Order: sequence, then structure tokens, then C-alpha cells
Amino acid sequence: MNKRAKPIKVLMVCLGNICRSPTAHAVFYKRVNDAELGEAIEVDSAGTGDYHIGEKPDKRARSAAKQRGYDLSGLRARQVKASDFEVFDYILAMDDNNLRDLLAQCPPPLRHKVQLFMEFTDNNHQSVPDPYYSGVDGFQLVLNLAEEASDGLLAHIRQRDLQ
Ligand code: 4NP
Repeated sequence: MNKRAKPIKVLMVCLGNICRSPTAHAVFYKRVNDAELGEAIEVDSAGTGDYHIGEKPDKRARSAAKQRGYDLSGLRARQVKASDFEVFDYILAMDDNNLRDLLAQCPPPLRHKVQLFMEFTDNNHQSVPDPYYSGVDGFQLVLNLAEEASDGLLAHIRQRDLQ
């Protein structure tokens, strides 16, 4: 099923790792497990910033996700670290600032792993907007975009890595 002996590893990245990337993490994790691909694809998330290390996802993100059947309660924020660029196959930035910060840290030979999560959709949004200072609608938009991009990402990995 998997061309490689090791699972494909996906890292979702935003700024704080308390709103967008934990949502993307939980949504993609559910897609993977619903497809019975939990042994072939692993998911994690991290932030480029250090503001919220060790914290649970934002309460608004947890509550919006729970209404759609995603569980964020076991996740804790961590910061991106140098070894992530070696360990992960897909390092997916939620927005252009995250992308720029990741590329600045990533060893040049590994930069092909770093891209925008929204590249996996045809949606007009090129990034997942930061909902931290927005209202409830911002968290619903994060979920909508995470669901679309997760479907595209799963289809891409199935075709490229799991044939
Ligand atoms: P996230 O949202 O990057 O989607 O987790 C944010 C969380 C915290 C802050 C900014 C964005 N902050 O400035 O603390």
C-alpha cells in the first residue's frame, strides 16, 4: 500500500499552534483514520512562535471543532524545531508569514517539503486566515478551509506516495 516502509509524516504549521494548525491537524487526522490509513500517514502540528508552548488549543477552536466532530482536547502547542525539517515529508504552512518563517529556518535541500496547506485546494483562499482576533465566523472559516485542503491533501498523498 505504502511505497515506503515508513509512514508519510505531515506537519501542520501556524503561528501559535493553538488555532489553525491544531484544527488542520485534527481534521486531517480524522480524514486519515476514516480512510483506515492511520498506519500509513502520521500527523502533527507546531507553531513558528513560542507564545503558547504547552497550552491546549484555543477554547473557541476546540468548541467550533467539537461541533463538527473533531477532538482537539489532547493537543498541546509546541514550536517548530530543526529536526522537523528532517523528520516530516510535508510541512504545511497556514499562511504566507508561516511559509516565510519556515523557509528561513529550513535547510535549502529540504525546502521542497515546505508549502502552503491551501495549495491542496482550488479554493480562492491562498491561506488560512488567522482567526485569533476575529469572531466565531473566523473559526468556522478555518474549519471549512481545513476540510477542503485535507481532502485535497489526502487525495494527493494517496496518488503520489501510497500507490
Ligand atoms: P494560530 O493563531 O497561529 O492559528 O494558532 C494565533 C494564536 C496566537 C497568536 C496569534 C495567532 N498570538 O498572537 O498570541
